[in-house]
Amino acid sequence: MRKLIFAASVSLMLLTSTETFAHAAHCEDSELGDLMKSMKQELKDYVSSFKQSDQAAMQQHLNGLLNDSKQAKKLIPMKYEGQSVASVDIQRYQEGMDELLELLQQLQEAGGDASVIKPALAQIKQHSKDGHKAFRKDCD
Ligand code: HEM
Repeated sequence: MRKLIFAASVSLMLLTSTETFAHAAHCEDSELGDLMKSMKQELKDYVSSFKQSDQAAMQQHLNGLLNDSKQAKKLIPMKYEGQSVASVDIQRYQEGMDELLELLQQLQEAGGDASVIKPALAQIKQHSKDGHKAFRKDCD
């Protein structure tokens, strides 16, 4: 039985790492992707600090999120590689990032007020989903 469990977990591990490899090989890593990963971590840390009512940590992670988002606005999504920065597509992407920055600003002004934080977090989640649908290269 032990052997069986061991074999099962090894094959699960192999399966997961092959998938990760396939994604990386096909989708490529990008500077924007790295910033987005950092934003994901900051948001996660912000939410856990909120749950612990640690306002100082919340502001710290929010600052990280704001800085990453400002940087991300300056980069060009893989989907639009080679396009002029003045193109309509890239302008729309930048407007999408501005909307995100406005939502993050709302969080900053909310301090520790859950009645503002919760709906703002829901909007950020939906806005990211829409942003990914529109601007992320379809390579999965
Ligand atoms: C807090 C909000 C957001 C989070 C946490 C987030 C998170 C992520 C993550 C984890 C990835 C995958 C990175 C990778 O595996 O390489 C990603 C990719 C991406 N995201 Fe976001 N995202 C957010 C908001 C947005 C918004 C608002 C937009 C567009 C207006 C956007 C546009 C993109 C694009 C274009 C990519 C693909 C990277 C590339 O083309 O180089 N994201 N995001």
